[in-house]
Amino acid sequence: SQRGGWGSEMMGPRFPWLLWACACCWSAGFCGKVVVWPTDASHWINVKVLLEELVLRGHEVTVLVPSSNLLIDYQDTSSPFTFEVLQVPFTQQTLHTAMEDFLNFWMNEVSNVSPWKIMWKMKEVLEVFTNMSKQTCDTLVMNTQLIAKLQQAKFDVLIADPLSAGGELVAEILAIPFAYSFRFSDGNVVERLCGGLPSPPSYVPASTRGLTDQMSFVERLQNFLFYFYMDLFFLNDDTAGELLQPTTLCETMGKAEIWLIRTYWDFEFPRPFLPNFEFVGGLHCKPAKPLPKEMEEFVQSSGEHGIVVFSLGSMVYKLTDEKSNVIARALSQLPQKVLWRYKGKKPETLGSNTRIYDWIPQNDLLGHPLTKAFITHGGTNGIYEAIYHGIPMVGIPIFADQHDNIAHLRAKGAAVELDFSTLKTQDLVDALNTVINNSTYKENALRLSKIHHDQPVKPLDRAVFWIEFVMRHKGAKHLRPAAHHLTWYQYHCLDVLAFLFMCTAIAVFILAKCCLFCCKRCGRIAKRKKE
Ligand SMILES: *[C@@H]1O[C@H](CO)[C@@H](O)[C@H](O)[C@H]1NC(C)=O
Ligand SMILES: *[C@@H]1O[C@H](CO)[C@@H](O)[C@H](O)[C@H]1NC(C)=O
Ligand SMILES: *[C@@H]1O[C@H](CO)[C@@H](O)[C@H](O)[C@H]1NC(C)=O
Repeated sequence: SQRGGWGSEMMGPRFPWLLWACACCWSAGFCGKVVVWPTDASHWINVKVLLEELVLRGHEVTVLVPSSNLLIDYQDTSSPFTFEVLQVPFTQQTLHTAMEDFLNFWMNEVSNVSPWKIMWKMKEVLEVFTNMSKQTCDTLVMNTQLIAKLQQAKFDVLIADPLSAGGELVAEILAIPFAYSFRFSDGNVVERLCGGLPSPPSYVPASTRGLTDQMSFVERLQNFLFYFYMDLFFLNDDTAGELLQPTTLCETMGKAEIWLIRTYWDFEFPRPFLPNFEFVGGLHCKPAKPLPKEMEEFVQSSGEHGIVVFSLGSMVYKLTDEKSNVIARALSQLPQKVLWRYKGKKPETLGSNTRIYDWIPQNDLLGHPLTKAFITHGGTNGIYEAIYHGIPMVGIPIFADQHDNIAHLRAKGAAVELDFSTLKTQDLVDALNTVINNSTYKENALRLSKIHHDQPVKPLDRAVFWIEFVMRHKGAKHLRPAAHHLTWYQYHCLDVLAFLFMCTAIAVFILAKCCLFCCKRCGRIAKRKKE
């Protein structure tokens, strides 16, 4: 649908386009074959843009998709990708239930339980998703026919996301290089331990803690301990199990040729990185297209006050009645018109200035000249669309990287943060009035936008370049740091320190012994003289 419907182009207009794509890769001398191990939901929305661009440049894209999933529509005959469907043993219903359970916990329960309980619950929930991930992986590994077919296809590269383990394994089986598209892992554990990304705990905040690069002593202590805790937790966790013996999942992940990270320096705090890490945040952003007629009329009716765009992302379908009324009442007090993406029951307190939509063209709305603010849950995709168009935000983070994302924008002065669990009508009204009336938020959002647009090569082009690079050179081994060959104590020079410490200790010991010996002798000589 992004490119005006691939299906309608099948007969006529698609032909010249195909010709152009082929001419394109003939001139570049290379048409590649890409296989994808996707991660569902917002991750798919993001990587799909990269895959579409690869298709446009003449590469073939095959997606390995589980038969039960949330957003990957493999039955869409107009899709530019080839789908290989993995008949997984879990149902669509199981997946939806697990997702709802997960969201329900973060939206309605998390405020009443202890941090310990949260960790426990997270482990439980993650296990459900890990099990499904494992089952998907098993489905492929057991299907020798499909594997033979994939091997025959001679793919050049595999694109995966470390969040759904399995892609690296498929790449190993097919003996092809792989690249990652990635946002974050809890406590940066995957990028630090498996990718080798240096992350000094003194100024690189651990993901999901909502910290910034300016940390007080106590925050640095927290950050340090969280890194440490995650390291222990991760190193003892063996989810890959027997499939990868004798190596570990982490070691296999470390073989990724390129890590395409879905952030950029407009949003990220400056930090050390490696040459095989490319920051391509906002690759999915595009200039706004015109709105549907009915929506444009509603937007125009807002006059000088403009509009507010509100979405809690692709996964949050409904809120409790209480919550939706708190929100609707707040929105009704604004002079702006509000477009709210919401699928739940219509709240009773909904004002006449607010319209509810099942789906909104979010990027086109954020790029509309009348848009004043964006109320967001803080997902990376939406945030980047707001940065791209320079729109200040009110963040209501719920789970995953959302607290971090909003913390980053708050530190950069482009957002106000609200607490979802204790949200009051007046809080939301105040927050919106602040980001709309106080011009510093708009100015900061525009500053980020300018930084985002002022890049030598656009993020999408950089991402495509590196995927093509890996295909052309069968990897990017020249970018791989030797850190991967070291053990953890070698990496931190603990063996060297231990050696130096021992040398010093021996030297001090010998010196002390000598002194003692000399003193004793001197003492004896002095004693003899006296006598
Ligand atoms: C995950 O799978 C393991 C073994 O296959 C099973 O023992 C465990 O109960 C499963 N966990 C969940 C939450 O389904
Ligand atoms: C912000 O501006 C609106 C009108 O646009 C006004 O109703 C509201 O009181 C102002 N809020 C503050 C805090 O100044
Ligand atoms: C606008 O917001 C900034 C940042 O929070 C604050 O320092 C400033 O005092 C505010 N200005 C007004 C007029 O409220």
